[in-house]
Amino acid sequence: MSLQMSSLEKSFESIYQQSIKEPNQFWLEAAQNIHWSKPPIEACELNDEDRNVADWFKGGQLNSCYNALDCHVESGFGEQIALIYESPVTGKSQSFSFNELLGQVAVFAGALMSKGIEKGDRVVIYMPMIPQAVIAMLACARIGAVHSVVFGGFAANELAVRIDDALPKAIISASCGIEINRVIDYKTLLDSALEFSSHQPDFQVIFQREEHQAKITQNGDVDWSDFVIDAQPVGCVAVDATDPLYILYTSGTTGKPKGVIRDNGGHCVALKWSMQNIYNVSPGEVFWAASDIGWVVGHSYIVYGPLFNRNTTVLYEGKPIGTPDCNAFWSVIDKYRVGVLFTAPTAIRAIKKEDPDGQVLKQSGCDLSTLKALFLAGERSDPDTLVWAERNLKVPVIDHWWQTETGWSICANCLGIEQLPVVHGSPTRPVPGYQLEAVDKLGNPVSTGQIGALVIKAPLPPGTFKGLWRNPARFEQGYFAKFNGYYETGDAGYIDENGYVFVMSRTDDIINVAGHRLSTGAIEEVIASHPDVAECAVIGVPCELKGEKPVALIVLNGGVKSQTSDGTFDEIQNETIKLVRQQLGAVYSYKSSVVVDGLPKTRSGKVLRGTMKKIAKHEKYDMPATIDDPTTLTKVTEALSSVVD
Ligand code: COA
Ligand code: AMP
Repeated sequence: MSLQMSSLEKSFESIYQQSIKEPNQFWLEAAQNIHWSKPPIEACELNDEDRNVADWFKGGQLNSCYNALDCHVESGFGEQIALIYESPVTGKSQSFSFNELLGQVAVFAGALMSKGIEKGDRVVIYMPMIPQAVIAMLACARIGAVHSVVFGGFAANELAVRIDDALPKAIISASCGIEINRVIDYKTLLDSALEFSSHQPDFQVIFQREEHQAKITQNGDVDWSDFVIDAQPVGCVAVDATDPLYILYTSGTTGKPKGVIRDNGGHCVALKWSMQNIYNVSPGEVFWAASDIGWVVGHSYIVYGPLFNRNTTVLYEGKPIGTPDCNAFWSVIDKYRVGVLFTAPTAIRAIKKEDPDGQVLKQSGCDLSTLKALFLAGERSDPDTLVWAERNLKVPVIDHWWQTETGWSICANCLGIEQLPVVHGSPTRPVPGYQLEAVDKLGNPVSTGQIGALVIKAPLPPGTFKGLWRNPARFEQGYFAKFNGYYETGDAGYIDENGYVFVMSRTDDIINVAGHRLSTGAIEEVIASHPDVAECAVIGVPCELKGEKPVALIVLNGGVKSQTSDGTFDEIQNETIKLVRQQLGAVYSYKSSVVVDGLPKTRSGKVLRGTMKKIAKHEKYDMPATIDDPTTLTKVTEALSSVVD
């Protein structure tokens, strides 16, 4: 492999080296592929206050919505399909040309403006996977308002926390979302969120879905159709390249989410570059990211990236299985001639479970001949899943690694530049713009093949985050304080002799459930609020389908045992499950807990989460020298065996 790699490497290698040695020239060249109302003169300028951050394309002005829609219409592609809405949960399909999407976005933007929304104002979007969510996002971008999309699987309380942090002037929502087995009443969730939140927006726009109509009762509620009825379309407002386009909240180690800020200029340049160089899609092709607009994948690759690149994007309101079966993805590829699919390994695992030898796919008769590649991200791709996909789809299956903070991939196999050999278990190499290292606790590079903290030399390339909303201290402390001049990814892994990166685990208490990044700290806070719980620790344990699942180790208050009717703790355990679902949301998938007498701790009182995680993963561990009471660990090991596969 190494011989082949050294000859193949040249072209990728030279482009990569250019991006590192001459970032200014590299990204200024990439910037020529987007539309500026005032082109930038410089690409990379370090921020005056924070030298770890670059103000990409400072001085340049543009509009992200213009780059997503208007420019394609002006170049004569108005009739091309921009967005396909495919909704197996409602049985609906709908297509929007660039002309049609632009028309609806311009009117909705006009309606927002007429209600006083201006450049810089925040607008929270709490919506299911329907075209109106995309329309709302692009309308905000059009007038320079900053959208903050909140994933529909979060509970009212989580929405309230985000409202109180983003301080939106308006909220856009819908009457309901639809899961396979139930209708989610978004409006009721929004109403309760507004009861919890201290901040109140000026108004709420509610899109009424046929499947369930909401009562428009709250002060400030407006029905979407009334909102737009007399609205006039408006043009694009030019914003500075460094102005925020959106805030997207992501999990941190505490219950308080972090508001990742994305700019306009760097984002537009980087995403457009990534569509052609990483995903290898040309304008006009169909690109499908089977994710949710509430996650960063949805922002970057359902909405902005494909539209910047004049691709047709697919908005899929369904699941990989159950809507109606495990051929759901393949029939969408067939129906719409999809060129590239991007999804989470969990989705492929779910399909593989129902179709282990690919027979169901074969018998379906689905024509997958247009598919050029499958990209996976969101969690580590296990080799079995990759092999299954390669065997059955017969296209390159590319694992790539990225985070909400970066907005696009840190490591990938850049199919648009040169396909490097695929190595299972590795998202390949750092992509142009990213200088990655694996380091020890002191920040010294570890040897080749040794596991270390994965860090990226600051400043990060364009498109990555500019900060955390209203929290510069957490930004500095959480990402740049530990390793001088480097961004701490929070992931640990190693780099092999060919420069391939292997991302192995998180260095913090974040877990990855079905490709969703979740905070164990947030779950612990909720469980600890139960009156019978003295303390608890939540760890991620392996799950065959979802990669990881949260399990809580619960210590009850003294005397509680005698209060339960049958001597078990089922009641309390069920109550904590309900609490987490109510306060955080179903997406946390918190369903298992064990009651223990005590948590294993160091003598200074630190819970030994790392050791418990190793036990849950059946990995070798050394009894920590600083452990206070070794018997707690023995008991925890016994207790975990009842909930770990
Ligand atoms: N609104 C409301 N509830 C939601 C929701 C949404 N947008 N998304 C998920 N939920 C609920 C689900 O209904 C489920 O509820 P339940 O416990 O009552 O069944 C719960 O949250 C957990 O959801 P999920 O983990 O997605 O499990 P699932 O059983 O519904 O589906 C898979 C399993 C594998 C099909 C699904 O996890 C999947 O498609 N994963 C891919 C993930 C992905 O696209 N990640 C984005 C990164 S690329
Ligand atoms: P999110 O911010 O929700 O996109 O989650 C980012 C986290 O998901 C990363 O920090 C990793 O822990 C994990 N992750 C994403 N992609 C991969 C991948 N390809 N391999 C391993 N872990 C991944």
